[in-house]
Amino acid sequence: MGSYSSDSSFPVTASNINPKVVKCEYAVRGEIVTLAQKLQESLNANPGSHPFDEILYCNIGNPQSLGQKPITFFREVLALSDHPDILDRAETQGLFSADSIKRAQTILGQIPGRATGAYSHSQGVKGLRDAIAAGIEARDGFPADPNDIFLTDGASPAVHTMMQLLIRSENDGILCPIPQYPLYSASIALHGGTLVPYYLDEASGWGLELSEVKKQLEDAKSKGISVRALVVINPGNPTGQVLSEENQREIVKFCKQEGLVLLADEVYQENVYVPEKKFHSFKKVSRSLEYGESDITLVSFQSISKGYHGECGKRGGYMEVTGFSAEVREQVYKLASVNLCSNISGQILSSLVMSPPQVGDESYELYKAEKDAILSSLTRRAKALEDALNKLEGVSCNKAEGAMYLFPRIRLPEKAIKAAEAVNKAPDAFYCARLLNATGVVVVPGSGFGQVPGTWHFRCTILPQEEKIPAIVSRLTAFHEKFIDEFRD
Ligand SMILES: Cc1ncc(COP(=O)(O)O)c(C=O)c1O
Repeated sequence: MGSYSSDSSFPVTASNINPKVVKCEYAVRGEIVTLAQKLQESLNANPGSHPFDEILYCNIGNPQSLGQKPITFFREVLALSDHPDILDRAETQGLFSADSIKRAQTILGQIPGRATGAYSHSQGVKGLRDAIAAGIEARDGFPADPNDIFLTDGASPAVHTMMQLLIRSENDGILCPIPQYPLYSASIALHGGTLVPYYLDEASGWGLELSEVKKQLEDAKSKGISVRALVVINPGNPTGQVLSEENQREIVKFCKQEGLVLLADEVYQENVYVPEKKFHSFKKVSRSLEYGESDITLVSFQSISKGYHGECGKRGGYMEVTGFSAEVREQVYKLASVNLCSNISGQILSSLVMSPPQVGDESYELYKAEKDAILSSLTRRAKALEDALNKLEGVSCNKAEGAMYLFPRIRLPEKAIKAAEAVNKAPDAFYCARLLNATGVVVVPGSGFGQVPGTWHFRCTILPQEEKIPAIVSRLTAFHEKFIDEFRD
C-alpha cells in the first residue's frame, strides 16, 4: 500500500511530463500577461491603489475584447443558422436583413439535417467550402478547388496539423522568420522539430532578403538538418510589413527550386493600411508564374480572427492545401478526421468572410460602412502610435503597413541592461514590466518573438479603441522619459 517503484512516474511532475511541452513557449500570453492580470485584480479590489485607473491591453490581437463590434451581417446569418425556428416567424423579416435570411437558408440547406449542432464532413461542410473556393477565385483570378479547403478552428490548429505532418524528428527543420509569431516556434517545439531562423531586415522595413534565407538554409543543411518548409507571414506579425509582389515571386521560385513546402500565413490579408502596398496571395503569385500543383506545394492559412471582423473567439479559419500527392492528401484528411470536424459557427463565419455581401444586396451598404470604419480607424491608430513611438529618445519604429502591430526598437542604456541582468530578466522584458507597473499599458517584450541578438524591441497592438490612443501615447511617453533619465549612462 502506498509504495511505488523508484522509476514510477507518479506523481506527475514538470520533470516527467513530455519535455516538448516544457520546452514550448508562448510569450503573448506569458509572464507579462500574468502580471497584468494581477494588477487588474488589485485594481478591482482596491481602486486607486496604482498610478493608473485601468489596464490598457496592447499585447494581443483580440479586437472584440477591446470593444470592436462584430459585423452585423455576419452575426445575423450566424444567429439565424443557429436558431432556424425563427426563420419562419413574421417578426424576423423586420429584425433581420433580407439577404441574411436568404444566406442563412442557403447555408442551412447545405448542412446535412440543417443541424449546426451536428458534426460535419471532416474538411468542413461542402457548401461552405464551395463559397470559400469561390471567394478565393474572386480574390486571385485563378481557380480554387473546394476539395483543397480544410476548415479549422482558427489558423492555429491548421499550423499544428502541418507541423505534425512534416516534422519527423529534430533533424527536420522549418525555416521561420525572426521576429516571428510564437505559434510557429511553439508548434515546431511541440512537434519535436528544429526552427531554422531567417532574420527579417529591420533597416529595410522588415524586408525578407532571399540571400539571408539561402544562407540559413545552407547552414542548416551543413548541420545535417533536412529543411522541409518555409514559413512566410504576410502581412507580418509582429513586424507589420507587407511584402512586395516581386519579393513574393522570388520566394515562390526559391521554394520550387529547393523543394520546400511554402507555409503562407495570410491571416492579415484584409489588414493593409498603406496605399502603396497591396495583399497578394502566394497562390495567386505562384499561379501567375504558371506554377501548378506539380511545381510547388503551398499551404495558405486564413482566419476569421483578424481582418476587419476580428471574430477570434468563434475559432474559425481554413487552410488551402495544394501540390501534395493524393497519398499525402489522404493523410492530411486523416488528421482532420481525428478531430472529427471544426466547429460549425467558425465554418459559417469562414464562408461569410470569403463571400461577404455584394453590391445590390440589402446588407451591402451597412457591411461596407462597418468594414471601412474599422479599417480606416486602424490605419489612423497605426499612424498615431508609430509617430508617437518615433518621437521617443532612442526608439525607432517601422511603419505598420499591415497586420495589427508595431514592433519598435528600443536602445536601452547600459545601466538599464545591467539592472535587468541583476533581476535575471531580458532587458526588453524588464522595460515592459516597468512600463506595465507604472502605466497599466501591456506590451510584449521582443524576446518573445526573437530578434537580432543584442537588439531590444516590444510589440504593441494598434487595437485599443481610438479614443484610448492619446492616453496610451501620453502614458508611454512620460514613462519612457523617466525610465531613460533614471538609467542614463
Ligand atoms: C500570424 C498569425 N497566424 C495565426 C494566428 C492564429 O490565429 P487563429 O485565431 O486563427 O488561431 C495569429 C493570431 O494572432 C497570427 O497573428
